[in-house]
Amino acid sequence: MSVTVRVPAKVNLQLGVGPLRDDGYHDLVNVFHAVSLFDEVTVTEGPLAVTVEGASIEGVPTGPENLAARAAVLLAGHLGVEAAASIHIRKEIPVAGGMAGGSADAAAALLGCAALWNPGLPLKTLMELGGQLGSDVPFALLGGTAVGVGRGEVLTPLPTSGEYHWIFALAEGGLSTPAVYAECDRLRAAFEEHAVWPHESPALLAALAEGDAKALGAALTNDLQPAALSLMPSLQRTIAAGRDFGALGALVSGSGPTCAFLAGDAEHAADIAAALRGAGVARAAVAASGPVPGATVL
Ligand code: C5P
Repeated sequence: MSVTVRVPAKVNLQLGVGPLRDDGYHDLVNVFHAVSLFDEVTVTEGPLAVTVEGASIEGVPTGPENLAARAAVLLAGHLGVEAAASIHIRKEIPVAGGMAGGSADAAAALLGCAALWNPGLPLKTLMELGGQLGSDVPFALLGGTAVGVGRGEVLTPLPTSGEYHWIFALAEGGLSTPAVYAECDRLRAAFEEHAVWPHESPALLAALAEGDAKALGAALTNDLQPAALSLMPSLQRTIAAGRDFGALGALVSGSGPTCAFLAGDAEHAADIAAALRGAGVARAAVAASGPVPGATVL
């Protein structure tokens, strides 16, 4: 028996980072948006193993530390069954790119293993288990557009209208999420900036509800962006190029280094992607749309 799950990447429309907590995490206001860049995860009954295929998969672990393998072990423990899951990942989501690719694979493994071992398991249970694996895993199960608070794992779906057209500029190499959060803390300390408690942006929520891409573009914010730019200064050129090519909004996706640009429609997105490729400011530029559903059994 085997099950294949398709799971989307995310971009953060707002990433408000609060003070560092005692547990090493930051309280967030995190507006997640699932986009049509997908990994496909196939789970087959058999000895626990992970294999990975894709154009740019350096650095993806294939041992028990792979988040998808950890998801299988966690779910098996919860259900009291053996973690007999041979997991194959077809990667399209950039690795260490700030688009929650590892979390997406963990979410897909949870859903795929549940389909094999206990098909009736509620999504809520999978989301609770997902939250133990990583802050972004529950959203990869939920999909759509949602606001996450706490570490980002306490989710409320947001009402949205219409479809949004994005371009993602993939960088050469990745950024480590803990390193970017640490750089954010370092910069705040160096500039004696006190982290304020983040709030949802009313302008962003109104733009999403109305389906107003121009207003959404103007309302995109990411508190991790200065830290990502500090660790990878070349991203400044990428962001500036996207703005020059007429993007309605431009920002670093999550902890980076992928940069996200909002376009007015699909044609505009294709034009901006081609212009970014031509300008040589990214390893690749791909167009995608959102919101899309979360992890889905094919
Ligand atoms: O939850 P996850 O394992 O994806 O988080 C990776 C790292 O990102 C954490 O170890 C922490 O350094 C940082 N992080 C944070 N605050 C959050 C989420 C993640 O500081 N809310």
